[in-house]
Amino acid sequence: MGKVYMVGAGPGAPDLITVRGMDLLRKADVLIYAGSLVNPVLVEESGAALKLDSQSMKLDEIVGAIEEHVRAGRLVVRLHSGDPSLYGAIVEQMAELERRGIEAEIVPGVSSLFAASAALKTQFTLRDVSDSLVITRPAGATLERDLIPEFSRLGQTMVVFLGTERMEEVLARVECPPETPAAVVYHASWPDEKVVRGTVADIARKARAAGIERTALIIIGKVVDPTTSGFGRSVLYS
Ligand SMILES: C[S@@+](CC[C@H](N)C(=O)[O-])C[C@H]1O[C@@H](n2cnc3c(N)ncnc32)[C@H](O)[C@@H]1O
Repeated sequence: MGKVYMVGAGPGAPDLITVRGMDLLRKADVLIYAGSLVNPVLVEESGAALKLDSQSMKLDEIVGAIEEHVRAGRLVVRLHSGDPSLYGAIVEQMAELERRGIEAEIVPGVSSLFAASAALKTQFTLRDVSDSLVITRPAGATLERDLIPEFSRLGQTMVVFLGTERMEEVLARVECPPETPAAVVYHASWPDEKVVRGTVADIARKARAAGIERTALIIIGKVVDPTTSGFGRSVLYS
């Protein structure tokens, strides 16, 4: 019996999937993909005879389909957006699969996080500016409490996933100087990518004015504006 491959599809651009991921996608007999965030070009690229959009499926159905096809000796690829380790819900799938005796292997992907830093032409960690990166999400329907005020007081780079709909609320709760640089990157690496730059005080208004309502990252910290951040040169190249 084979195993299921949990593959990171990358942030959107079809050529930002890894070589290993693309190889598995092409060889797959069965593809289960996260419909809203995976580029349809990748789904078309797959040679799978059966392609299932997991958007309308419950955990039990997904795991059931994986189990059925792996037991039948088929190559099953479960395609997740970005990198599956960030807000990807793979652990709950793998725990249930393990209970049923099905092994899973993870193939990492390029997170939207990194497509956003590329779009901003910056580094999330920058000497003398920020040595740490906080990755977080706001409270909402599926999360009771978040740590956005606490994290924002650290003065380090902060990236907020899953917060576009509540952008104004998120930025109102940020406790760093209002002039702190901030950006919103929509659909990083997709053809309709949008990059909006501003400060904590005005970024929500600017992003809304640019028509951004979903699928974006909020990036807060001096690294957003590296030229004025006062960064130091890396020790390695000094
Ligand atoms: C369920 S999470 C999946 C994240 C994914 N695992 C990753 O590594 O990028 C979905 C959220 O990721 C962010 N996201 C995903 N793709 C994006 C992209 N191409 N550009 C900007 N944000 C993106 C948005 O905040 C979206 O609400």
